[in-house]
Amino acid sequence: MTISDSAVAIIGAGNIGSRLAADFAAGGQDFLLAGRDAEAARKIASDLDGHAEVASVDEAVDRAGVLVVAVWLDDFRQFIAQYGQQLADKVIVDPSNPVGPDGEGGYRKVIGEQESSGQILAGLLPAGARLVKAFGTLSAPSLSAAARREPGRAVLFYAADDAAAGDLVADLIRAAGFEPVRVGGLDQSIRIEMFGDLHEYGALGRVVTRSEALKAI
Ligand SMILES: NC(=O)c1ccc[n+]([C@@H]2O[C@H](COP(=O)([O-])OP(=O)(O)OC[C@H]3O[C@@H](n4cnc5c(N)ncnc54)[C@H](OP(=O)(O)O)[C@@H]3O)[C@@H](O)[C@H]2O)c1
Repeated sequence: MTISDSAVAIIGAGNIGSRLAADFAAGGQDFLLAGRDAEAARKIASDLDGHAEVASVDEAVDRAGVLVVAVWLDDFRQFIAQYGQQLADKVIVDPSNPVGPDGEGGYRKVIGEQESSGQILAGLLPAGARLVKAFGTLSAPSLSAAARREPGRAVLFYAADDAAAGDLVADLIRAAGFEPVRVGGLDQSIRIEMFGDLHEYGALGRVVTRSEALKAI
């Protein structure tokens, strides 16, 4: 099975959702775009050459096999609580960084130092749902600026326990204009979340190519 056999949806049409939408469309990837504000989603879709079909969140969950849930951690928890068993046969893609404002213009982690949102969310999903951690390792501006970079495609790291789900998301990363590099299972999520050693806002500190990424792992 490849990504072209799966219906893909982006849930959440904010900063990351809209940038991913543009990256997918530029790579010819069709997808459903579902935000809480349908008008905002329609505006985003109108610039994407027919690759984005605006849908309600209910409809996107119903129709798509791969759901990229581009919302903050607390909203992601609520999303899982709301749709529960409907997510059981889906690939759920998690770009979330478990951070919030630190009151001084920066960010701080909002979960325990050794916790990752990837592992927390995976533990909330129903049996059969397969979570893949991806698309959160770069800042929003880099997700736009580094897409389809030549020479030397920019890397997006991902983490997955399920190999087939990981392969599907690797296809999606390629469609978005990046080079996928698997960091390991979901127990490695913390490394590719903000402040992690492979994050743009962590020890790595920059966008890297495949050879640089393999050295960093
Ligand atoms: N910004 C970055 O540089 C960056 C980089 C990597 C990863 N991330 C991660 O990406 C996620 C989204 O960040 P963002 O910067 O895109 O935030 P954002 O601009 O605030 O967008 C979040 C969007 O999610 C929508 N939303 C919330 N709950 C929803 C639901 N149940 N159904 C549909 N839409 C829902 C919000 O809609 P409303 O406006 O109606 O609330 C909003 O449009 C976060 O987890 C963040 O950690 C962000």
